[in-house]
Amino acid sequence: MSGGKFLETLAGTRFATPPIWLMRQAGRYLPEYRAVRAATRSFLELCYTPAKAVEVTLQPIRRFGLDAAIIFSDILVIPDALGQKVWFEEGEGPKLAALTDPAEFGRLSRARLPEHLAPVYEAIRQVRAALPKETALLGFAGAPFTLACYMIEGGSSRDFAKVKGWAYSHPDSFGLLIDLLVDAVVDHLTCQIEAGANAVQLFDSWAGVLPEEQLFAWSLEPMVRIAHAVRARHPKIPIIAFPRAVGPATLMYRRPDAFAALSIDTGIGAHWAAQELQPHICIQGNLDPTVLLGPLERILTATDDVLERAAGRPGHIFNLGHGILPSTPVEHVQALARYVHQKTRR
Ligand code: CP3
Repeated sequence: MSGGKFLETLAGTRFATPPIWLMRQAGRYLPEYRAVRAATRSFLELCYTPAKAVEVTLQPIRRFGLDAAIIFSDILVIPDALGQKVWFEEGEGPKLAALTDPAEFGRLSRARLPEHLAPVYEAIRQVRAALPKETALLGFAGAPFTLACYMIEGGSSRDFAKVKGWAYSHPDSFGLLIDLLVDAVVDHLTCQIEAGANAVQLFDSWAGVLPEEQLFAWSLEPMVRIAHAVRARHPKIPIIAFPRAVGPATLMYRRPDAFAALSIDTGIGAHWAAQELQPHICIQGNLDPTVLLGPLERILTATDDVLERAAGRPGHIFNLGHGILPSTPVEHVQALARYVHQKTRR
């Protein structure tokens, strides 16, 4: 089967040595990424130039021989494709022309999404053709709530007052935005799969700012709707959900009807995950990305800890609890990948 150990783990086979990939494995901690980025005017131009996106997607695979590549793109290509202005400011992160009024939804349209994001699909086709058969290719999208956060806040936020204020005061129009995003994410994931992605991950990076009572309606339910729609068209493609920082409410996301695996963040105890989640669903995670800053012995003991605690069935995909930090030494990532690949657990 194309996609090797990573896809077989998602399908329920447990390996003594788990597959490994790392969130943000392509990025600024790699000198060869910084070189490509320096030769490109804007971050979105990097995402929309297939030759460059292909190159940076493959960089961490060449160096570390990871079990999965993730297509180089961003969750904010969806608001961009819907017609909202998106740009990235050096050192400040993403900026969007914030939605301030429900009337503005009328200007967003998914009619041109597949055309606008065609360069992403072209990059996927080229990466799939270039990858070894046993290396899986992951597509991804932001989950509707996290996308709504960026679209209404206009960027990152401390308190999420605008998006949550809107959701509480105008639940009907917030629901319409979530519905539009569900449809846009289904379109985007479907196109990625049809271009060659072997699995997809949904990032709900900001789910953790919601009270448990709101998580169902604004985070989980839209993600399940997306998963069911994608699976109706592509029943064999596994979907990984990453509801970040939701604590024990992660239990709600244990939905094998929708997701093949749950990606768990750094805050989730690996022991709790092994007892409460893993007997029901494959888990992915969850080494603290900060541990990778050093020292080496600490990296290896923390890795052992994750490997031992997640050794149960149905399975485990080794990953971080969130993305690699730009200040991470490349040698540490190299050491981690080697260690996980040679380590055999009972
Ligand atoms: O290697 C990979 O993981 C694939 C590429 C990828 C990027 N962003 C590249 C990127 C993926 C999967 C993402 C997802 C993403 N983007 C998320 C969800 C995951 C998470 O981190 O919670 C979110 C919330 C975003 C939005 C976003 N994009 C932010 C907040 C930032 C700024 C943070 C930063 O590190 O600068 C980005 C920019 C971005 N996306 C960069 C990269 C490599 C850095 C841009 C640069 O090179 O200057």
